[in-house]
Amino acid sequence: MPAPAASASKSATAVLHLGEVVSTNDEAFRLWRAGECGPLWVLADLQTGGRGRSGRAWVGGAGNLHASLLMTQLAPPESQPQLSLVTGVAVVDALRGCACEADLVGLRLKWPNDILIAGRKVGGILIETSTAAGKGAALVIGIGLNVVSHPHDLDRPVTSLGAHGVQVECRELLAAVDASLAAWLSRWSQGGGFAAIRQAWCERAGPVGERVDVDTGRGRIAAEFRGLDEDGALLVAEAGGRLVRVRAGDVDLA
Ligand code: BTN
Repeated sequence: MPAPAASASKSATAVLHLGEVVSTNDEAFRLWRAGECGPLWVLADLQTGGRGRSGRAWVGGAGNLHASLLMTQLAPPESQPQLSLVTGVAVVDALRGCACEADLVGLRLKWPNDILIAGRKVGGILIETSTAAGKGAALVIGIGLNVVSHPHDLDRPVTSLGAHGVQVECRELLAAVDASLAAWLSRWSQGGGFAAIRQAWCERAGPVGERVDVDTGRGRIAAEFRGLDEDGALLVAEAGGRLVRVRAGDVDLA
């Protein structure tokens, strides 16, 4: 499926560019509680307490992208988990727009929203919601991309764009993500257009049949990737062929 046209040198969405913060997700929620309605990108040069999924820390560093989009016009709660898939598709397309194809060989998605190059994680997405009395709810899409460096002491393979010869400024990258995300959010249409997202996500992920280890939170499953269900849940097949739906969990490539 062709990507929606998305190119810009400056973000169409407002950007608040900060120096050092604990977490851009926290900062976006703090601004919302203080009256900000968004959409607004919070971009930081450094995070001292960046968060990843499943309670993990996210270690960025100077020159890497740490950005969070504050949104208050929200899709129905049942569709919101799909936003991580929408964002993953948008980030892959933004990266393709910022680099030459040869440098991004092996760029792909891993469910639910890891961005990999040649099997190594180059970026991740953390979507969080918050409610406040009298203010309703806000949602923040946090994106971390290893642009110039990556941590060396993790138990998972990681990489950076720089390690693959890609040189891009964070502001330029954010502008590309902003344009791509706006285009894919429009196609998603608050969940009504998820079929197109599902197809686009699968086109940017590993092949059906790929061996995966899935941590469902209640145990690990050694299985084969079978695609996404109509709502975005991961579909895997266990050794005996039984199809399993996973709504939340972590996936390792086997
Ligand atoms: C993951 O892969 O576990 C998600 C990582 C998300 C990291 C980004 S960096 C910007 C935003 N602020 C945070 O504290 N986390 C997200």
